[in-house]
Formats: sequence, C-alpha cells, structure tokens
Amino acid sequence: PQLTPYVDELPVAPVLTGDRTITTAASTHRFHRDLGVAKTWSYGGQPYQGPTIEAHRGEPLTLTFSNAIDGGHLFAADVDPTLQGASELDRTQPRTTVHIHGAVTPPEADGHPEDTVRPGGTMTYRHPNGQDAAHLWYHDHAMGITRLNAVAGLAGTYLLRDEYDTGTAANRLGLPSGEFEVPLTLADRRFLADGSLNFRTAREVPQGHWEGGMFGDLMTVNGIVSPYLKVARGFYRFRVLNASNARGYRLFFSNQMPFWVVGTDGGLLDAPARTTSVRLAPGERLDLVVDFGSLAAGDHVDLTNDQQESPEVVAATAVVPTADILRFVGTGARGFTTPPPTVLRGAAGLPAALPALPAAGTLPRRIVTLTPATAPGWPPAGMMMNNLRYGDGPVLTPRQGTAEVWEFVNASSEPHPMHLHLVHMRILDRQVFDAAAYRKANPRPEPGTAWSPSPDAHLLGTAQPPQAWEAGVKDTVGCPPGMVTRVLVRFPAAAELGFDPDASFAAMDGMRLRGYVWHCHILDHEDDCMMARYRIGT
Ligand code: C2O
Ligand code: CU
Repeated sequence: PQLTPYVDELPVAPVLTGDRTITTAASTHRFHRDLGVAKTWSYGGQPYQGPTIEAHRGEPLTLTFSNAIDGGHLFAADVDPTLQGASELDRTQPRTTVHIHGAVTPPEADGHPEDTVRPGGTMTYRHPNGQDAAHLWYHDHAMGITRLNAVAGLAGTYLLRDEYDTGTAANRLGLPSGEFEVPLTLADRRFLADGSLNFRTAREVPQGHWEGGMFGDLMTVNGIVSPYLKVARGFYRFRVLNASNARGYRLFFSNQMPFWVVGTDGGLLDAPARTTSVRLAPGERLDLVVDFGSLAAGDHVDLTNDQQESPEVVAATAVVPTADILRFVGTGARGFTTPPPTVLRGAAGLPAALPALPAAGTLPRRIVTLTPATAPGWPPAGMMMNNLRYGDGPVLTPRQGTAEVWEFVNASSEPHPMHLHLVHMRILDRQVFDAAAYRKANPRPEPGTAWSPSPDAHLLGTAQPPQAWEAGVKDTVGCPPGMVTRVLVRFPAAAELGFDPDASFAAMDGMRLRGYVWHCHILDHEDDCMMARYRIGT
C-alpha cells in the first residue's frame, strides 16, 4: 500500500524492571492510521514487539518467558520445513526461545536456537548483567523460523545501566535522560492491502520456500510506519537498533546536520564521534546524541536512509530504499540543553578507557569465508560460512583469556552482519579483495567440506580503519561484499566471566546445544544455517 508518512506519533514501549514473567502471545496492532488492524505476536501484552527491559550492572535478573501463542504460526504458510531445525509442526505449534543479544550470559540463559519451547512451555533465564552499560536487545532465536518469529513481533529493547550511565539526570556523563532518551527500533516491513503483515518479498519463489531475505517496502520505528516525534529545543539521546531481517541503513538527517555517536553495541565510545551519517546493519545498535536546539515550533527535520541493496536483491524484489524513517517536529519548548561531554571514558569519575588494540600480526588468525551455497545469483540457494552448514561444522575452541583476529572474507554479493554470542569484538580494518580471482584460485569443494582459503594473494589497495563512530565495542559487525573485514575478538576466561560456560554445557542435554552460536544476523541467512558454534577451550 501507498501510505502518507509522518501521520502517526512514535510510540515508546513501557519500561519493566525487576524479575518478571513475560508472556509471548498473539496480539493485534495497527501499523499506520490508514491500515487495518493486523494480527501480530508480542511480548508482555504489547500490541507489537515487547516492553523495554531495564537492568542494572551487577544486579542479576530472572526472566521467565512463557510461550502462550495460540492459533498456530502467524506465518504458517511461510514456514519452510526443509530448513534445519524447522518442521511441519511449527505451522501449528510454533517454537520460541529468547536470546538477549549482546549479553554476557551463561549458556543455559542464552536462548540457544535449539533450546526452544512449544506453546504451553516456559523458560526461565537468570542473567548476571555483569557487563558495562549497553543497549542490548532481546529477540526470538528458534532455529529455522527466527526470521518469521521476528517479523511477527518477537523483539524488544534491553537497556543495561551502570553507575556511570544511569539513565537518570544524576548520570555523571551528562547525557540526555528521561523523556530526552528515546529507544528507536527500526524495521522494514511489508503489508497486505488489509493492513496485515506480509512476510513474502520475492515473488518468483513459491510460498513456503526460504526466499533469501525479507525486505520491506515501508519503514517502521517502534512498530509504526514512518512516525513523527515531537521534540523540544535541545539535545536528545536515541538508542537506535536495526531490528530488520535483512536491510541495512545509511542514516542521515534531511538537512545534513551533524550529530554525535556516543556508543556502539557494547557500550560507550571513549569520546563522542561527530558525523553527518552512519551505517547500521541488522542487529547493530548506535547510541546517538542529536541537537534540536535550532528547531523552531512547527518546523521539522527527518531521519532518512539511502542505502541501496545489492542489484540482485533490487531486481528480484523491486524493493527500493525505505527513505521515510522518522520526522522530528519542533514544539519550541525548552528541552535538555547540556551538550554532550567531550570525553566519555578514561577520565576521573568516568568508566575506564577502551583497551588499546594490540598489533594484529601477533595474534592467532581465523579466516571465515562467506559465500552463497552455489554460484551467486537470485534466488540464492542459501548462504554458508567456510562452505559449511550448522550441522556440518566443527565446534570451534578458541582459548580462554586469549584474543584472536577473525577475518570475514565476503566472497558473496551481499553484506553479512557477523555476530558472536557472549563475546565482544573491535573492528581492526576492512580491505577490498578480488573475489573472482580468489574463487578461481581456490576451487571450492562440495558443500560440507571446510574451505576458508587465505585472501592475502588477492588483497587490493590498503586496509581502511573503522570510522571513529564504529571504533567502540561491538557484538555485530557489518561485512560488505568484496571486502575482508578484520575484527579482534577476545575470549574471556571463566574467572572474568563470573561463570563457567563449560560446566554449563556439560550439564545441558544434547551435544548439539554444547556451544555458543555465531552467525550472520540477516535472520533469513541465519535460518538457512549461516550459523556455527564455538566453545571457549582451556
Ligand atoms: Cu541477535 Cu544470535 O542473535
Ligand atoms: Cu548473511
């Protein structure tokens, strides 16, 4: 449907604190003034998606999620029972599990993709919250149907606070708080004429078959199509999450005004980074401070996007960049007038500075080759890491208390946002390579045989360091096509974690569960087994 943007006000989800039981159930929601009411799924009785869970560093939280979904899967006809983990039963008795993305949490609380419950089941997770303040998020992770469950509505914000970043006016960082701190959850969606959610994008793929990537033609923020937000004159802090299945964004303001990035996935940057645009891949978060000090009553400025998907995707789906994201309308009232601080870490009264990056050449190196399962093209036949599917792969065992350089060699034609559970990454650099020559020089064995050749002989130009605004702590990193993206990953020892994952794995049922997962955060790719496991070895 063609819809007028900026006619509905941005909703902000209620905040929950303390131990809770949260019900996962069917709900209803109107995504836009001119759309009919859609059937949805949600957490905690919300119309769509979930409440914001707020936790504090050092205060463990026990969350019980009950799967009370009745009436079968919202996208029953889109379930593909040929995907690993999925089955016909998911059409009528959909599985769920809840993963807190970015959380340093023991295996039994991690929402493992194979650790799922059917309707009537509950799961209880105790989260230690022993990490820095950060914008985490919780979402469904049921193997083989995550892409469907997420579009149905199973996602929410999890804000972890600490003694510095308290989320109140008393915070020593001087960041906007209260009504001036707003979570913005971005997700592209498609709708049928009656207003209901439509999962299908690629018309030539028969319904019920995995179709490569769900791309929407409309943009939602906090579950509303292209909403507006009334803003006072002053500074706002936006906790921005890309909860889209497959779409990445290049975000900027319609007047090209500069703004500050103060944090990334895992917490604050050392200092605010001033920029006029940012990129945000699926699963990534950015913590922004924006100055509306010169926005007069009734004037507006828009948050917009111009990121193009790959030519194959555009040709097959006819989806264009979803430009209309969010309109800010000035009220003229006096708002939060303290500008962002010049430093956020490493000074008296502030959190410790981020550790300096070690010289990369001295660390163990792990190459991860990202390719389509067959020749690049559309519809793709699936995506692979190292020519392996989830079930084929070895469980990697990096050593406790060590750091490694992981090199994501993207020899496909699409970007892949790579995510590791439990641990954090820092971006070292990105470098162009000749993907065609790389594939030619290294013939690929049959799928199922490990294959991750070095890209060194095919590198072009010079390695580019990360932008200042992405130089912080990451758990998800965008890996563009035709590039090698190098990240530093640190694997903490049990003593640093405050829990022993190996002891938990030993106690968990089923060999397949015994590992944290790492995967592409394009949910459709993850569902087609662009996912593997690792354990921290001793
Ligand atoms: Cu956001 Cu494995 O997930
Ligand atoms: Cu991918």
